[in-house]
Parts: sequence; C-alpha cells; structure tokens
Amino acid sequence: MSMWKYADPGRRPRSARPAEEPLSPEDFREAMSHLAGALTVVTTQDALGKRWGFTATSALSVSQSPPLVLVGVGNTSSCLQAMLESESFIVNVLSEQQREVAESFARKGVDRFAGHDFVPWPADGPPRLLGAHAAYRCRTAGSVQVGDHQLLIGEVTGFSARSEAGPLLWHRRDFVALSGKEAVCG
Ligand SMILES: Cc1cc2nc3c(=O)[nH]c(=O)nc-3n(C[C@H](O)[C@H](O)[C@H](O)COP(=O)(O)O)c2cc1C
Repeated sequence: MSMWKYADPGRRPRSARPAEEPLSPEDFREAMSHLAGALTVVTTQDALGKRWGFTATSALSVSQSPPLVLVGVGNTSSCLQAMLESESFIVNVLSEQQREVAESFARKGVDRFAGHDFVPWPADGPPRLLGAHAAYRCRTAGSVQVGDHQLLIGEVTGFSARSEAGPLLWHRRDFVALSGKEAVCG
C-alpha cells in the first residue's frame, strides 16, 4: 500500500489487485518491535528559551545532498508544536550508558532534563546531551503529515561523536548494547 494514501489522497496510484487489509495497531506494534533502532533523544528550545525533548527511535538519514534527516513526531506529542516551530533541533544518539536518559525522555509529566547534563549547541542553540554516542545539529527544513505522525525534516549543519561510547539500541521492546555488554544505567 502506498503511504501517499495518508499524505495526499489525490495522488494514490491505482492498482488492479484486490486491496489487502492493513495490520491492526497491535499487530503492527508487534511486527515493528523486530526492527532494531538507535535510541535517540531529540531536543529543541522554543522562542522563550524553554527546552523540549523526547525519546525517539524514528530518526533516520533521508538524503546525502542536501544532507537531510527525518524524525517522526507523534501528532499528540507534547513536543510537537515546539519541534515544528523550531529553527533548529538536535538528534542526540544515546550511548549504552544512557538508558536512564531514554527512560526520562519517554516519561510524561516530569522535568525530563532534570539530572541529565546538556549544553547549548551552539552557545544560544538547542540542548546537546553530554556523553552521547553522537549528535546531529539540524536546521529545521520542513515537515510532512503522514498518518498519526509528522515527519520532521532537518538539514544537518553539525556533527559530534564520541567513538569510545557504543550506541544504545531498542529491539523487542528492550534496551540492547551493540558491544554485547549489558546496557547499564547511570
Ligand atoms: C523506545 C521508544 C521510542 C520512541 N520513539 C518515538 C518516536 O520516534 N516519535 C515520537 O513521537 N515518540 C516516540 N516515543 C514516545 C516519546 O518518547 C514520548 O513518550 C511521547 O512523546 C509521550 O510523551 P509526551 O506526549 O508527553 O511528549 C518513543 C518512546 C520509546 C520508549
């Protein structure tokens, strides 16, 4: 099935084959739990300087020239407005010691930044997580509404990496450290 059915119904290609039923949300969640993904925390700050961020496994590379990445942001996410209105955002790729950061930034109704070390990047920019495996600074280039998410597109303008810290992955609804060591807290 073409995803354009959900983005722009007028452009759906015609098919002679009988339509297949899509998976239910429960079956889809189970199916997608097999797709291992890098755990990231996507951050920005709004016009008043308030910091926003959420845990995401949807960050991926979409274009080399121009250098573009995308992040799927849920339509009901508390961060959606700040993300869409931002001039820039950062995709912080978590290291295997940062399981607690992933947990904090997926929690509702708490100060997600409390107890974690961030620095503005650049000096007046969005918050970058210290000790992360990598970080991509992105100029907000646009967004596309698809299904129950907005695909936030960013042009990558900066990159930082810490090679000695392996990345933290998410697979089968659990944390996995790429090094094979247990993903430790703290
Ligand atoms: C492993 C994992 C991956 C997630 N990936 C995304 C994602 O890609 N996009 C997204 O909008 N939310 C994602 N979430 C949910 C958010 O981190 C957060 O829990 C959600 O935005 C609800 O909080 P809020 O509405 O208060 O922001 C993910 C959560 C977890 C635990």
